[in-house]
Amino acid sequence: MFGEIHRHYEEIDSTNRVALDWNDAPHGALVSADSQTNGRGRLGRKWESPSAKGLYFSVITRPKIENRAIMALVAALALAKSLESSTNLNFKIKWPNDLLCRGQKIGGLLCESRDERTIVGIGLNLTHQLEDLPTRPLFPASSLLLLGGQQFSGDWLLPAILQTLEGQFERLENGDWPRLKTELEARLWGVGEIVRVGEKMGILRGLDNGGHLQIHTSNGLESVVAGDVSWV
Ligand code: BTN
Repeated sequence: MFGEIHRHYEEIDSTNRVALDWNDAPHGALVSADSQTNGRGRLGRKWESPSAKGLYFSVITRPKIENRAIMALVAALALAKSLESSTNLNFKIKWPNDLLCRGQKIGGLLCESRDERTIVGIGLNLTHQLEDLPTRPLFPASSLLLLGGQQFSGDWLLPAILQTLEGQFERLENGDWPRLKTELEARLWGVGEIVRVGEKMGILRGLDNGGHLQIHTSNGLESVVAGDVSWV
């Protein structure tokens, strides 16, 4: 069961770092913290992790087939589904790893691998006030409190998220990626809109079979493996 083996810290640099260093952790082991001094975000960014305002945790997985891009997306799907059951809010996924609610970033995922382990790191803003959040020009950061007007307890949300995550990963291991992909595409932010990722510009169409973003450019359908999506 995900989270059965659990290391919790009041304060730590990064739960992903601890999880990466935990060599003999079993599949589903959990590392969580009340605050992080060096929470890691994608592309070398920092993840603000003030004490007891968010959920900061990493799940160690030992997948049969390692595909980090797909695992991060399926984890984002699990997070969205679980939060929808626990709150009355709706969530979208901004490729590759942002969880959005009403166009605002409420959570993020960072998957990292070492040896045969893939670490799924999740940060979720729960009770942040505006002054706790970094300023972002597009997709401003927000929290469940600011958007849902309610205090959601991490102790209550975390077990539900872990259970959903375990279930969605089982589907993935059992070959259900085609249906997971369809579910993801239904939640993907910006489908049908004109976007730019690095040099590429075109209409966002969905995901390819590897979990990469598909954009219809002047050269036809192209896949984007990494980068930040911006809207034109
Ligand atoms: C992003 O949006 O760039 C991804 C942010 C991921 C943050 C989480 S918080 C728990 C885990 N530990 C880390 O150091 N990072 C992830």
